[in-house]
Amino acid sequence: MAADSSKLKVGMPETLPNPEEAPEVLSDAVDQSVKVIDTELAADIMGDNPTLEEGEEVASWPMISFSHVSMWFGETKTLDNVSFTVNRGETLCILGRSGVGKSVALRILMGFLKPQVGSIRVDGEEINGLTEEGMQQIRKRVTMVFQNGALFDSLTVRENVAFPLRERGGMDEDQIQQVVDRLIGLVGADDVPDALPASLSTGRRRAVAIARALASQPEVVLYDEPTTMVDPIIARRLGGIIQRLKKQLGFTSIVVTHDMRFAERLADSVLFLHEGRAAFFGPLKAFLASPDPHIQQFLTLDAYQLPLA
Ligand SMILES: Nc1ncnc2c1ncn2[C@@H]1O[C@H](COP(=O)(O)OP(=O)(O)OP(=O)(O)O)[C@@H](O)[C@H]1O
Ligand SMILES: [Mg+2]
Repeated sequence: MAADSSKLKVGMPETLPNPEEAPEVLSDAVDQSVKVIDTELAADIMGDNPTLEEGEEVASWPMISFSHVSMWFGETKTLDNVSFTVNRGETLCILGRSGVGKSVALRILMGFLKPQVGSIRVDGEEINGLTEEGMQQIRKRVTMVFQNGALFDSLTVRENVAFPLRERGGMDEDQIQQVVDRLIGLVGADDVPDALPASLSTGRRRAVAIARALASQPEVVLYDEPTTMVDPIIARRLGGIIQRLKKQLGFTSIVVTHDMRFAERLADSVLFLHEGRAAFFGPLKAFLASPDPHIQQFLTLDAYQLPLA
């Protein structure tokens, strides 16, 4: 469906409540925001991309697929015959212990790493073997929110978010500032528009990184450990943003996380990597019910249960 801005029924609130001040109202605000109709922002963010009509289901077809992907670093096989798909509009959570290749999988999808074996498709297009120029086209559709935010240190919050808009061109300064205002409001950074990234907390930097990722108008957003090193309230807020992007704008997301509660809230499907292999790929419910001992251990181990002295 080509977007017709007169028909857009999706949108985002102008601002979110400050979670530090009113954590209990955040989930209400997130729920209510689903009903907010703001055609302008949806059009601003999505341009001519497909957007969801109210109550409309997203047609399911693979937006991302890995097929029999293996990747070696030297002698070490880090990914071993990994296959999975993510349908358009769905959220895949990649889970697994440290060092199993979760971040490597995301970097492959961005074209930063090239696996020796296997096929990786984005909306049907094979990307393994694409030139850097071809990959740049893919990175307009697939963007990544890095663990450290990867913001430009010498640019303010506002300028960081404006960067992809300026790079893309086609908007005058007023339009750029309007979209920037909305995006930083969306992620709750509208009180620090002129701050430099170094002066912000990790959670704030990550929120700004999400705003900057959205400014590039992607169809797929990859998040590497969005909730590590932030407090539970910020984690919930980031989760709310990711969820809203999916519900309202039909974004496809891949979220790498250790945080099972976060995964349970967001995931349509789960990829569980163990020793480089896809030990599980399927719906969240089946994952939670899996008898696989490695999965059970992952689900039930309490990191804070210390051995008795
Ligand atoms: N560029 C690289 N060169 C060599 N080895 C690499 C490279 N990138 C990743 N690796 C190795 O691949 C393995 C998987 O790394 P990866 O970063 O994907 O783990 P992860 O599952 O994301 O772990 P964590 O949960 O700790 O972030 C590690 O052993 C890592 O050292
Ligand atoms: Mg990692």
